[in-house]
Amino acid sequence: MGSVALLLLVCSSWLVSMAAAAPGPPIRAVNLGGWLVTEGWIMPSLFDNIPNKDLLDGTQLQIKSTTQNRYLVVDQGGASAILADRIQASSWETFRLWRINETTFNFRVYGGQFWGVDSNGALVATATTPGPSETFQIVRRDSDKTRVRIRAPTGLFLQAKTMASVTADRAGEYTDWSDNDPSVFLVNNVGNLYGEYQICNGCGIARATQVLRSHWDTFITEDDFKFIALSGLNAVRIPVGWWIASDPNPPLPFVGGSLQALDNAFRWARNYNIGVIVDLHAAPGSQNPYDHSATRDGSQEWGTTDANIAQTVQVIEFLVSRYANNTALLAVELLNEPLTKYYQDGYNAVRRYTPTAYVIMSNRLQIADQKELLQFASGFPGAVLDVHYYNLFDSKFENLTVEQNIDFVRNNRSADLATITNQNGRPLTFVGEWSAAWGVQGANPTDYQRFARVQQDVYGNATFGWAYWTLQNVNAVWNMTFMIQNGIITLK
Ligand SMILES: *[C@@H]1O[C@H](CO)[C@@H](O)[C@H](O)[C@H]1NC(C)=O
Ligand SMILES: *[C@@H]1O[C@H](CO)[C@@H](O)[C@H](O)[C@H]1NC(C)=O
Ligand SMILES: *[C@@H]1O[C@H](CO)[C@@H](O)[C@H](O)[C@H]1NC(C)=O
Ligand SMILES: *[C@@H]1O[C@H](CO)[C@@H](O)[C@H](O)[C@H]1NC(C)=O
Ligand SMILES: *[C@@H]1O[C@H](CO)[C@@H](O)[C@H](O)[C@H]1NC(C)=O
Ligand SMILES: *[C@@H]1O[C@H](CO)[C@@H](O)[C@H](O)[C@H]1NC(C)=O
Repeated sequence: MGSVALLLLVCSSWLVSMAAAAPGPPIRAVNLGGWLVTEGWIMPSLFDNIPNKDLLDGTQLQIKSTTQNRYLVVDQGGASAILADRIQASSWETFRLWRINETTFNFRVYGGQFWGVDSNGALVATATTPGPSETFQIVRRDSDKTRVRIRAPTGLFLQAKTMASVTADRAGEYTDWSDNDPSVFLVNNVGNLYGEYQICNGCGIARATQVLRSHWDTFITEDDFKFIALSGLNAVRIPVGWWIASDPNPPLPFVGGSLQALDNAFRWARNYNIGVIVDLHAAPGSQNPYDHSATRDGSQEWGTTDANIAQTVQVIEFLVSRYANNTALLAVELLNEPLTKYYQDGYNAVRRYTPTAYVIMSNRLQIADQKELLQFASGFPGAVLDVHYYNLFDSKFENLTVEQNIDFVRNNRSADLATITNQNGRPLTFVGEWSAAWGVQGANPTDYQRFARVQQDVYGNATFGWAYWTLQNVNAVWNMTFMIQNGIITLK
């Protein structure tokens, strides 16, 4: 081979490898939300056909005795008897379901204990883990699902004959469902979760596997990556759950197969020269009480033990060892919960496999102190600080006009961003979630265009870049595909 030919070969393989490298900052990205971590509001139809789908894990019930006209309450919040004497319902009067199947549940009280029946037949909440003796059946009236009877593990129904106790001592299937029957209760459903835990446990393993695999195959496809590239975006941020690390056999109720979908995403990303941010979005024990942490009932137990942090670091290790040498890997986002011990260990785990992938740490979702992580994150080469900017989720946005919303982004958000931007670029800054959703009613397309534009202008100053939430969503304004196809968002 002549030296010119050799030079050409070297150059062309260098060109090929350059072309294949993930784009670097500043990135213009879109989140692939609601794909590998379920969020019901993004795609509600996933929950169709689940029997009693208003009684999934984590459903919060307030339960009123019709006879006493009083709410059930766990006295002192937990580790005590259930009474039927409260006029108003708040936290001690709210019970969270753990679903066994469509009719059978554990009831968790404020303090974390579960309903059971003591030796006198009284309803108490003393057990700290639920077993057969903490398992109750809800029997709903056909014509009015809010009217229920509750069968205790003994087979007898609960009744509130007085305000001073609830007893499991009513035999017989028959009721006239009237207020005079002390075994009839009125149920107020005051909170629901529609996350990964709910869909998996609500469907059961066999059906959940079908539903989710079909979702993973159709919700995001290679065509979406083509669209992303043609639209002028250069990266995706992909939320994943901790169970992906034990694919194909994750612990129940989670189902396997999301790893294959993530592998596909990396292949498509390479085909279209798109960078991938792998974003651990749900940690074991759940780092927040929202659907998207895959919590069972809203309790937040992540980060409370070393074991649980170590397990999370192993998830990062699994992901980074799999994709470290993939040219599409742009960054690993450790979790949207700033626990510095975990961030330190997670950062080290990433660096054991790659010197170049960015490592993203995140401010708390709603925080007063925006600089909480600034100093800490500045100590790590290649660290990025993620902030989420929505003109929502805070009463201060409730009644803002179009102009006030735009001014807020132009003035307040740009000041916020400047606050966390160090001149030396350590850490880099990333608006990892934003959208054109707001509290304005009746806005027209031009209003949305201007609101999206000012955000692109301001967040364009973030040194790592930004990512819209999200690519696909049944709600048009949260659906970047819709926003781009309809000319509301354009990339320069
Ligand atoms: C639900 O679980 C209970 C307790 O294991 C069982 O007795 C019942 O048959 C189950 N019901 C359904 C509909 O699977
Ligand atoms: C990545 O590639 C390097 C060089 O080929 C190799 O030494 C390393 O083991 C690879 N890492 C992984 C995680 O596959
Ligand atoms: C927004 O307007 C509504 C209706 O006028 C009012 O009830 C509410 O208090 C306002 N919210 C704030 C935060 O000012
Ligand atoms: C935006 O910043 C201005 C100037 O600092 C401040 O007066 C105003 O209260 C801020 N707006 C909101 C909604 O926080
Ligand atoms: C971007 O940052 C620079 C420097 O802080 C500032 O002067 C400029 O106004 C910012 N642009 C926007 C659109 O916020
Ligand atoms: C998002 O919008 C596109 C374009 O209108 C539409 O084809 C797609 O079905 C939407 N996604 C969802 C999940 O509804």
